[in-house]
Formats: sequence, C-alpha cells, structure tokens
Amino acid sequence: MANFLTGFGNHFATEAIPGALPQGQNSPQKVPFGLYAEQLSGTAFTSPRAENKRSWLYRLRPIASHKPFQPYNGAALLRSGPFEELPPTANRLRWDPLGLPGTPIDFVDGLVTYGGNGDVATGTGLGIHLYAANRSMDRRAFQNADGEMLIVPQQGVLTIVTELGRFDVAPLQIALIPRGLRFRVELAGPSRGYVAENYGQLLRLPDLGPIGSNGLANPRDFETPPAWYEDRDEAYEVVQKFQGGLWTTTLDHSPFDVVAWHGNLAPCRYDLTRFNTINTVSFDHPDPSIFTVLTSPSEHHGTANWDFVIFPPRWMVADHTFRPPWFHRNVMSEFMGLIEGAYDAKEGGFAPGGASLHNQMAGHGPDRASYEKAVATELAPHRIERTMAFMFESRWVIRPTRWAAESPLCQLDYDDCWANFTKARLP
Ligand SMILES: [Fe+2]
Repeated sequence: MANFLTGFGNHFATEAIPGALPQGQNSPQKVPFGLYAEQLSGTAFTSPRAENKRSWLYRLRPIASHKPFQPYNGAALLRSGPFEELPPTANRLRWDPLGLPGTPIDFVDGLVTYGGNGDVATGTGLGIHLYAANRSMDRRAFQNADGEMLIVPQQGVLTIVTELGRFDVAPLQIALIPRGLRFRVELAGPSRGYVAENYGQLLRLPDLGPIGSNGLANPRDFETPPAWYEDRDEAYEVVQKFQGGLWTTTLDHSPFDVVAWHGNLAPCRYDLTRFNTINTVSFDHPDPSIFTVLTSPSEHHGTANWDFVIFPPRWMVADHTFRPPWFHRNVMSEFMGLIEGAYDAKEGGFAPGGASLHNQMAGHGPDRASYEKAVATELAPHRIERTMAFMFESRWVIRPTRWAAESPLCQLDYDDCWANFTKARLP
C-alpha cells in the first residue's frame, strides 16, 4: 500500500491525482476537475483550536446526493446506549471467545454488542462490541453517525477502505475510524476482534505529565493513508448507524470517490508493539493508567469518559513486590479483552477473543493460581512475552446487553477463580 502520512492528529494534505487538491483555499468557485468540495466536521465549529478536528474532501459527486434511508434489518445483535435491556449486575462477568461464524457474514452484520454505557443522544460513554466475520463487504459501506470506532483485531487482517484512503490492520494493530466516515471492511479469512464505539469526546493521546515529552504511544507512529478513490458507477449500499438505529440506502456509485482531501480528521492505524511501555524500576506495581494508549476525556478533568489501555510484553523487575495486578476495587469500570497470549493476573479462563467485565467497586485481581505463583516465585528480572491484553476503562458502569448476559459464552463459574484463598495467619 501507498506511503502513509504519519503523526496523530496532524494536518495532512493528499491527492490521488496531481492537481486535484485546491491550493490556498478550501472552497474555490471552481474546484479542479469539477470535483465537489465538502467539509467533514469531527468537533463543533467553535471547538478550541487544539481540539478542533475537520477535513475537506474533494469528490466525484456530492455527499448529499442520495435517496432516503430505509430501516435496515441486519446486524441483529448490535445495540446502542442507553443500555437498558437489563438492570446492571453487581457481578463480575467473563466470556469465552466469540465463535467464528458458520455462515457467510460481513463486518457490519457480524457486530455483537457486549455492553456499554452512556447515551448516543447526549454524547457520553461508549458501546463495546465484538465482531466475528468471514465475508468481505462487497458494494457495501458503513457509516456510523453515533461515534468514532476503535477497531482492535484479534484474528485476521482487515483491509479497511475509507473515503479518505485504505489500509490494512492486523492483530496487534488498531484502527481508528472517525465518526460519520464511510468505510468498508475486506477480510483475508475468518476474522474476529473488538470495537469500542466512542460516543463522547474524541480519543486523543494522554498527557504525559512528569514522564516528559516522549513515551507511551508516540504521535509519529500513527499512520493515516493517502487519498485513494474508486470510480465505480454501480449500485452501492450504505448502511448508516444513527442514534442506535440502522438505516440503509443505495447509491448508483461507490461512495469511495474522494480524489483529494486535507485536514486533521482522518482514519489512522497504530501498531501496539510500538508502544513505549513505562513501568517501575524500583518497587510496587504502578496504576495501570501508565499503559494508556488513547483517552476520551469527560468534562470532569482527569476522569476519562473511557481509556484504551494495553498490557504489552514488558520486563518485570520490581524488587520485593507482588508483581501481578493487585486486588482492588475501582471507581472506574473495566472491560478487558485479550488479543494474544495470557494475561498476568489470570492463569486460565481468559482466552484470546474472550472478555471480562469488572464494574465499579467490584472486587477483583489475580486468580488464586496466579496469586500463589506470584508470592512463591523468586524475584529476578522476568520478561512477559507474547501477550497483549487490553482494557476499555470507563468512568461509568458498563451494562451488559441481554445477549452478553445470557450467552452460553458467559462463564457461570467465574467467581470460583477467587475461591479458597488461604486465610492470613496472625501471630
Ligand atoms: Fe482492575
């Protein structure tokens, strides 16, 4: 694929045909080649400059030209906030891996919502989905008006074709698709992964504070594809998610007809293995916020709408320290997934493609096997290899969908992993 444009949130300018991009202004009276100019806004027009996101697109036909949307009946397991199918449960939940489909199904119809919080109407919280799919989207595009989408492949390389360019994203990489941008997903084979749908403020790199000006996810490692278009005059379905509902319309041409664009609202990918992991070199296990890749802030400073946090391969060197995650109750709520390997707080039961949910104030931590191993082990520098767990951590309780709560994948014996701890012995 073509050379990527690099840098998180940079202002890019790119054209698939030389001369297609207007120079010196956004909306000239006559756009080169008769292209149609269009602004795509990711933030309010009046957002502060540092947060303002928008791009200008130059395309073969105007975006406004389409017939009415009709209700769409696919993606039967896709849900949106508010998540009110069931009362929230106080229990800890864990799921076996989502099965790969036995019949042909594409990325959109293969989305299964596990839970979420907040509300698409007021722009808070997130939706948490998995996808399991085995068919490429063919003459079909998806447009999510409800939020940007963070896609975390667990199995199978995805080719994501967007209005602004196309790129591959493999397991151990992530893709970020701006709200409202049309895209299709092509598969190389059976594919599975996780999706966070962000209803709140746009994901951004976290502040680094005393870490300094480098570290964690470095901006230059985010890659945005250059302009790419296809000129296809044929029936093309657009499925739109709007306020939780799904709608469909059919164009007489491909929506991927943007010949040039410029701006700072664009899809990107990031290779999680480039994360500059920072951890203790003395003692004690730091708060897992040290592993934040991207954060969606809330209006409460320092308290995220939700964070995307990873647990990558790393050295463990802490002296006289219980090295796995400690037992805790968190005011934030934690949804975890596993891309590969094992997570250092769980010896079994948490498999790649699986998930767990530890909501606000739910006691959790290492299972008994992991605990006993950690307190018995001789502490030497140890490298955790071939693992990539992650967390969607939110300030609001994550409410499971009916499907997730009642699925046979939901492990009824999850609490047992914390059973039969030996009582502490007082002198
Ligand atoms: Fe936790």
